[in-house]
Amino acid sequence: MKFSLFTLSAMATGASAGKYFHGHGYKQSTEPREVIKTSLPKTSAGDLPKELDYRSFGESGRSYASAVRNQHIPNYCGGCYIFAATSALADRIRLARGDRPSQQVDLSPQVMLNCDTVGGDDGCHGGDPINVYSYIHDNGIPEETCQLYSATGHDVGNTCDAIDVCMDCAHGTGICSAVDESKYYTYGVEEFGLVNGTDAMMQELQRGPIACTVAVTEDFEDYTGGIFDDTTGTTEMDHSISLIGYGTDEDGTDYWLGRNSWGEYWGESGFFKIVRGTNNLGIEANCQWAVPSKEDNESWQNTGDKPLEKAVEAEPRDADRLPLYGGLKSSGYETIPEHVTSPLPHTYLTADDLPAAFDWRNVNGTNFVTWDKNQHIPQYCGSCWAQGVTSALSDRLNIMNGGQGPVVNLSPQVLINFNGGGTCEGGMPASAYRYIQQNGIPDQTCQVYQAADLGGRKGRSCDELCICETCSPNATSFSPGSCVAVEDPPLYYVSEHGSVKGADNMKAEIFARGPIGCGIAADDAFEAYTGGIFEEEKRFAMVNHEISIAGWGVSDDGVEYWIGRNSWGTWWGENGWFRIKMHENNLNVESGCDWGVPSLTKVE
Ligand SMILES: *[C@@H]1O[C@H](CO)[C@@H](O)[C@H](O)[C@H]1NC(C)=O
Ligand SMILES: *[C@@H]1O[C@H](CO)[C@@H](O)[C@H](O)[C@H]1NC(C)=O
Ligand SMILES: *[C@@H]1O[C@H](CO)[C@@H](O)[C@H](O)[C@H]1NC(C)=O
Ligand SMILES: *[C@@H]1O[C@H](CO)[C@@H](O)[C@H](O)[C@H]1NC(C)=O
Repeated sequence: MKFSLFTLSAMATGASAGKYFHGHGYKQSTEPREVIKTSLPKTSAGDLPKELDYRSFGESGRSYASAVRNQHIPNYCGGCYIFAATSALADRIRLARGDRPSQQVDLSPQVMLNCDTVGGDDGCHGGDPINVYSYIHDNGIPEETCQLYSATGHDVGNTCDAIDVCMDCAHGTGICSAVDESKYYTYGVEEFGLVNGTDAMMQELQRGPIACTVAVTEDFEDYTGGIFDDTTGTTEMDHSISLIGYGTDEDGTDYWLGRNSWGEYWGESGFFKIVRGTNNLGIEANCQWAVPSKEDNESWQNTGDKPLEKAVEAEPRDADRLPLYGGLKSSGYETIPEHVTSPLPHTYLTADDLPAAFDWRNVNGTNFVTWDKNQHIPQYCGSCWAQGVTSALSDRLNIMNGGQGPVVNLSPQVLINFNGGGTCEGGMPASAYRYIQQNGIPDQTCQVYQAADLGGRKGRSCDELCICETCSPNATSFSPGSCVAVEDPPLYYVSEHGSVKGADNMKAEIFARGPIGCGIAADDAFEAYTGGIFEEEKRFAMVNHEISIAGWGVSDDGVEYWIGRNSWGTWWGENGWFRIKMHENNLNVESGCDWGVPSLTKVE
C-alpha cells in the first residue's frame, strides 16, 4: 500500500491573527491542590532524550497528540485552562495504553465549563488547569460525545445536573435527557501536581504532555511559525497551553513544542515552538501535570485490542420517542454524478489480494481513525450523512499523512450551513462529496458542530462566518462577543468521489484507500444494539441512515462481519462502533456505499 506523505503544517496559511484574539482565560488558582502518590520523575538532565515530540513518538513514530481545538467558537470563551488540561490528559490516556492501537480520546471541556468551580474556576471567565485536574480527580470526565463544546459556562448560568454532564436528544419531541451514568465511561486522574523550571518540566514530559501558562503578547497572537522568542520580557501569565515535547534546531536554539487552543489556522497547524530555557513568556514558571487513572488502563487491557465493550441491557425505546435514524435521503446515487478519474480498487485487487481481516483502527499497530461523534447533541439533528462523509474523509486524510502529524477532524457543520448535501432534516452523501469537491471544507476548529442549520444566525446571512469564524469580547458583550470570519482558512477537498457496492468491491475500496460511508436500513433493533455481531437480513428495505465502515473481520466460528462506526455517541454499541454480519445484505449495508479521495487542493 502506498502513502503519499506530506505535512499538513505546510497548509497553514498564517491568517493575520492579532485582530482575532483578546483575553485568554488563565486565572491562577486561589488554592492550588496537589495529590502526589508516587515520586516524581528524576532523570538527570544529561540522560534525557535530546528531542521529544508526541506527534511522532517511539519506535512506531505514532502520534499520541490529540487534535487541536478552538476555544473561541461558537462564542468567545476564556476556557484555555480547560483545553490545556484536557488535551494533555487525553494524550496521556493514550500513552498509558502503550503500544496497543488506541482510538483518539476526546474529553469534554464543556462538562468542566458547566461543573468545575474548584479554586475559583469561573467557566468562560477563566481558571487554572490544576483545578481542572483536581475536579477530574474527584469527579471524572466523560467524552465529547456526552456534551458538545458550546463555549458557555456556569459563569453565565449553566447548571451541572446529570443532563449537563451527559445528554442525548430524541427525534421529533424536541426533548433532551440525561444519559444514565452506568452507560457512559468517565476518565479519571490518579495523581496531579505542579511543576516548573526547564529541567523539571523536561523530566515530567517523559511521562507525557503537560499544561503550562504563558503571557500572551500581540506577536504571539500573530505567530505563524518558527521558534517564537518574545523580546518584551513580559511574564504576566494570562493563557494556558499544553506542551507536547521539546527539541533543538539546526542553529542550536532550544525550544518547547506547544499546542494551542486557537484553531488549526493559528501557528503551525495549531501548534507552536517557543525558545526553551529563558522563561520566555513565563512558560517555565507554572505548569501542571496529571497521571490518568489506572482503572482506565486496566479496563482497556481487559478488552485487549478491541474497543471497550460494556455489557448494557438493551432498552426498548420510550413510546413517545421517535427513532434516532432517518437522516439519509436515498436515491442520491442515481442523481448525483460521480467523479472518478483513477482505476477503482476492485479492478486491480481481487479477493485473493485481500486479508481475511482488516481494520483501520489497527493497521500494523497504528490507529488511523479520527474522532467519534454524537450527531444528536445539543439537539436532535438528522446529519448522519454529513457525519459519515466527514468521518471517512478525515480518516483518509490521516491515512494519507501516514498516521503522523496533526489530526484533522473535518467539519460536518459547514456542510449543514450551506446545504452542502443536506440539512438537519437529512441529506445525501454523494451530494456532500460533490460540495466538498467544488468548495472544500475546513476542520472543526473553524466551525464547531452545533446540530442546527445556522444560516441567518446572529442576525447575519450565512457568509464566510459560516465557513470559519472566531469570536472575541467587545465593549458590551463578553460572551458571545463579536464573531468575525477568518480569512483563507485551510480547506480540504476531494479529487474524486463515487459509489461502491457489494462485499468484495467494498473490501477492495476500504483496503486500498480507507474507510467508506454506507447507507443502512436502520431500525429499532439496531438502535438498541449494545455489542456483538449484528444480524438482520433486510433485502428490500429503504436505507435511512448513514454510517462509515473502517474494516472487516471474521469470528471464531467463521462468520464474516463489517466493522462500522456510528455517530450516536461512544456509549452506543461497542464504544460508538458496531459489527454487522457480511454477505446477506444485513440492513442493506452492501447496497450503496460512497467514497472520496482527499486532496489538499481543488481538483476540477
Ligand atoms: C503493514 O505492514 C505490511 C507488511 O510489512 C506492509 O506491506 C503494509 O504496507 C503496512 N501497512 C501500512 C498501512 O503501513
Ligand atoms: C498499561 O497497561 C500496559 C499493558 O499491560 C502496560 O504495559 C503499561 O505499563 C500500563 N500503563 C500504565 C501507565 O500503568
Ligand atoms: C517552583 O517549584 C518549586 C519546587 O517545587 C517551588 O518551591 C516553587 O514555589 C515553584 N515556583 C513557582 C513560581 O511556582
Ligand atoms: C458586541 O457583541 C454583541 C453580541 O454579539 C453584539 O450584539 C454587538 O453589536 C457587539 N457590539 C459591537 C460594538 O460590535
